[in-house]
Amino acid sequence: MLPVNWRKRSDGPALTEVPLAPMTSWRIGGTADLFVAPRSPAELAAVLGDLWRTGQPWRVLGGGSNLLIGDRGVRDVVLHLGKLDAVSIVGNRLRAEAGAALHGVVRVAANAGLSGAECLAGIPGNIGGAVFGNAGGRYGAIGPLVCELELVAPDGTRETVVPGADFFRYRKSAIADRIVAAVTMQLVPTDVRRVQSRTRSIREERRVTQPGWVGNAGCVFKNPEGHSAGRLIDSSGGKDLSHGGIVVSRIHANFFDNPDLNGTADDVCHLVDKVRTQVRRHHGVELEWEVRRWGL
Ligand code: EPU
Repeated sequence: MLPVNWRKRSDGPALTEVPLAPMTSWRIGGTADLFVAPRSPAELAAVLGDLWRTGQPWRVLGGGSNLLIGDRGVRDVVLHLGKLDAVSIVGNRLRAEAGAALHGVVRVAANAGLSGAECLAGIPGNIGGAVFGNAGGRYGAIGPLVCELELVAPDGTRETVVPGADFFRYRKSAIADRIVAAVTMQLVPTDVRRVQSRTRSIREERRVTQPGWVGNAGCVFKNPEGHSAGRLIDSSGGKDLSHGGIVVSRIHANFFDNPDLNGTADDVCHLVDKVRTQVRRHHGVELEWEVRRWGL
């Protein structure tokens, strides 16, 4: 049921029966019964306050690049942050609203001659999701760059947090049940051409060693301590595995491709089981999902 004051708003941010597959990089998933796209951090806080009062469960849809949505969709309210996408620079600090695309933020920083964010070049998704999961790669992660976070608690209360040393861990943050509304990163002024060229080379390196952004969801499994999940899958013969419309990528075995965009969430889950079994048998290592899952 819609909170009462949303029903009155004809120009409000809520829609019903929205297909979610186009909003995920895997292009998989059913519909959302109720879909809300707040247009400002204040509106996000107001929507959360309404949901809190009506006791309705919700989920946040960020860039959809690290997410598997079940084929039957989700009954919880889906909060989409795509309209919160303002980016600004003051001095050496860059502030981005949660829905800003990470690649755009990285480009804005590079063009302003601010160094630090180039380690994130080529990573899909939006900055809110990147911060929530401390996204990164071999050149660094986003956590150490973050000097301030604007969060909204589930009851709609807004708070500003300065993350301490323990706030970010490998692919994890202490954000918990709060929603990121905006992120401020402290960057280092550098020669524009130098930071642009480093950004380009990291993006290019990722382009050559990883599949593109459409039809996959990045790394499916976390790297087990001391191992690379991709190498474990590859060396156990995983690159020959597939299920339905989903195949293990030939480029990087920790990516599962949906090449014809007709694979299903059930296909992905079956392939995950096959790959895990194969890696367990060959290496005695248990692989853990990295991708978030809804409605499964
Ligand atoms: N490898 C193989 N076969 C494969 C894939 C990889 O043998 O099919 C080998 C590579 O040759 C390399 C080693 O495994 O020697 C590690 O591979 P890579 O450098 O690609 O790094 P990774 O550990 O597989 C991590 C992150 C990626 C990030 C890359 C590059 C995780 C789970 N993965 O991958 O992040 O892009 O480093 O910085 O932490 C993601 O989180 O979604 C993601 C893609």
